[in-house]
Amino acid sequence: MNIRQLLDDRITAALHTLGAPDTVTAIVKPSARPEFGDYQANGVMAAAKQLKTNPRELATRLLETLDLSDLADKLEVAGPGFINIHLKNTWLSETVGRASARQPTPNTQTIVVDYSGPNLAKEMHVGHLRSTIIGDAVARVLEFQGYTVIRQNHVGDWGTQFGMLIAHMVSIAEQNGGVSDVAPQLADLETFYREAKQRFDAEPAFADAARDYVVKLQAGDAECHGLWQQFIDISLHHCEEVYERLGVSLTRADVMPESAYNADLANIVSELQAQGLLVENQGAQCAFLDEFKNKDGSITPIIVQKTGGGYLYATTDLAALRYRSGVLNIDRALYFTDARQALHFQQVFMLARKAGFVREGVALEHMPFGNMQGEDGKPFKTRTGGTVKLVDLLVEAEERAFTLVTAKNPALGEAERHDIARTVGIGAVKYADLSKNRNSDYIFNWETMLSFEGNTAPYLQYAYARIKSVFRKAGETPPNLPLSGKELKISLHEVAERTLAMKLLQFTEATDSVAKEGLPNHLCTYLYELAGNFMSFYEACPILKDGVAEDVRLSRLQLANLTAQTLQTGLGLLGIGVLERM
Ligand code: ARG
Repeated sequence: MNIRQLLDDRITAALHTLGAPDTVTAIVKPSARPEFGDYQANGVMAAAKQLKTNPRELATRLLETLDLSDLADKLEVAGPGFINIHLKNTWLSETVGRASARQPTPNTQTIVVDYSGPNLAKEMHVGHLRSTIIGDAVARVLEFQGYTVIRQNHVGDWGTQFGMLIAHMVSIAEQNGGVSDVAPQLADLETFYREAKQRFDAEPAFADAARDYVVKLQAGDAECHGLWQQFIDISLHHCEEVYERLGVSLTRADVMPESAYNADLANIVSELQAQGLLVENQGAQCAFLDEFKNKDGSITPIIVQKTGGGYLYATTDLAALRYRSGVLNIDRALYFTDARQALHFQQVFMLARKAGFVREGVALEHMPFGNMQGEDGKPFKTRTGGTVKLVDLLVEAEERAFTLVTAKNPALGEAERHDIARTVGIGAVKYADLSKNRNSDYIFNWETMLSFEGNTAPYLQYAYARIKSVFRKAGETPPNLPLSGKELKISLHEVAERTLAMKLLQFTEATDSVAKEGLPNHLCTYLYELAGNFMSFYEACPILKDGVAEDVRLSRLQLANLTAQTLQTGLGLLGIGVLERM
C-alpha cells in the first residue's frame, strides 16, 4: 500500500467534487514536521486559483466534504490553505501488521532495462560499474513491482577494434605452429588488447591485415567469424565473473549484442531514406532534425552511415529500438549510460519516432549518470594513471572489508569472516554508488563507504544483524511470532513506536519512486531513515528488559521483525545481501 497515493487519490477526488478542474491534484507529501501531522496536502492553493476563490475557504469546504475517518483522526487547515493529516493509531497498527504480507500487484507493462553494455574488446573497468549496478537495482525494483522486465545487455562486440584483435590472434596462432587456440593469451584481455593496439599503431602490415579482417568478418567469412566468436566467448566469460562477484542479476540470456542487429542495419538506412529522412553529406548518410538546431543555426546531424558504407552506434540503436518495440512489444525502455550519451539518445529516440520504428505510447527514457571520481575529483584511475579493472576494485573491497571484520570480530572463523567480508565489501561499493543521486558525479572513498556509521551498507547490514541478535537473545525465531494476515496486536503508544510503524508503511512509496524515476537513492534514503528510526525505537522502547508486559514485548518484537524484513527486502532490491551476525 502506498499511503501517499491513497491520500492523494481521495483528496484529489474531493477537490474535483468541489469543481476543481482535472489538472488539479491534491499534491500530498509526507509532513516536514510532526506538528504538521503525518502527511500534508498542498494542492488547495492551486485549485483555489483555478476556481478564483479564497484558498482557506476552499480548504474549509474541502474538509466538510472529505471523509477520511477510516484512516485519519484529525484534519486541519494550516497557513494559506495546507491540509495537515494526522493518521489514526489504530489504523496504523492494523495496517502495519498486514503490510508485511506485501504481494507485488501484477503490472501489465513490459519494460526493457538496458544496462551494463560493456565493450567486449577489453575487460570491464570501473567505468562500467555505475550502469551495471544502478540498472540492476532498477530492474529488480520493477520486477518486484510485478512488471515484466526484459534485461538487455547491449554489449559492444562489433566494429573495427575486432579486426585488430583477430589479426593478433592469427599471428599468435601462427607462432604456436598453426594451432588456433589462443585461450591462454586471452586470459588477460587487457594485455592482449594493449599488444594488439601497439602493433596496430607501429606495424603498417599488421594494420592492413586488421582492416582486411574487419571487412571479412562483416562479410561473414567463416574463419574470421570463428576467431571472433572465440574472443567474444572469453570476454563474456570475464564479464560473467564480474557479475557473479558483484551479485548482479545479468546472465548470458540477457546479452543482446550489437552484432545481433548487423543484418538489419542496411534496412534501417534504406527505410529512413525511403521516408525522406536522410540526406547525403560528404558521402555520409545523415538525418538533420530541426529539434537539434544549435545557437548558430547549424544542426547536429545523426549519422547513420559513414562514407565508405560503415554503420554507427546510432544505427544499431535504431535497429535495437525497432526490435524492442516491434518484437519484444515493450511499453517502456530505460537506458542506463553516462550523461555524455544524452544527445545520442535524444537523437535516436526522436529519429526512431519520426520513422515509426517505435509504437505510439512507448516511453523511452535515458537514465544518465555522472562520473565516479577519485579523491582528487578527477576520473577514478590507478596510482599510475591507468584505468582500474573492475575485478581488481572488487577484490580490494573484499580485502579491506576482511581487515575490518577481523578487527571487529577476531574470534570468528576465517571462512565466516571471508563470507561476511564479501557481503560487506561488495555491499559497500554498490551502496556508496546507489545512495547518491545518479545525476551527479561522486567521489569514491573507501573509508566512508566501509564505515559502520552514516548512510552506508555496513550500517544497514549492522542494523539488520542487531535485530537478529535481539531475536536470538529472546529465544524467539521470527516465524514463531504471529505472522502477517493473522491477528496482529501491534500497539503504538510510544512516539518511537509510531514513528517506526509509519516508516515501515512508507516502503512502497520509496520503491514506487525508484520505479518511476530510476533513482535508487530514494530507496537508500528510505532504508537509512528506517534503520535510524529503529535505533531510536530500540533505545526508547525496551524489548527484553524485565518488567515489560508480554503483549508489549510481542508487539515490539513484531515491529523489530517487520523492520528486519523490510531491510532485507530493500537491500535485496539494491542487490545487497544481509548477514545474520557480523
Ligand atoms: N557499449 C556502450 C558503451 O560502452 C553502452 C551501451 C548502452 N546501450 C545502448 N543501447 N546504446 O558506451
